[in-house]
Amino acid sequence: MNNVAINWTVLREAAVAAAANAYCPYSGLRVGAAALVDDGRIVVGCNVENATYGLGLCAECTMVGQLRLSGGGKLVAVACRSGDGELLMPCGRCRQVLYELGGPDCVVDTPRGVLAMAEVLPEAFGPEALP
Ligand code: THU
Repeated sequence: MNNVAINWTVLREAAVAAAANAYCPYSGLRVGAAALVDDGRIVVGCNVENATYGLGLCAECTMVGQLRLSGGGKLVAVACRSGDGELLMPCGRCRQVLYELGGPDCVVDTPRGVLAMAEVLPEAFGPEALP
């Protein structure tokens, strides 16, 4: 449980700002991700593509790297945006990555409104599934 207040305007703006740092020479799509952490700080990430195409990193992946590097904690709320400010949904792999560090109660900005990870990734395979 945590009591940090979610300011979606701040998170969405942080995601758009992060997208400005994207390295995306292949797709041309700048992606930024921003998350509120349970201690109140905000972490961000941007996509970092690769000449091999398949090894490109999504914005959510670099964001969770920053989460760990800046003190860890649990993701409370996540917003993903293009550099133009368009709402983007985390891809399937990133939903799994977010679930690991946010759990079922972490909320995500979606075209259908703010939804819990439990809805964005139903019947998730999570840490609790392991012996
Ligand atoms: N991308 C992300 O950064 N996050 C997602 O959840 C979906 C896709 C990036 C990967 C690639 O650099 C670009 O968007 C086009 O697929």
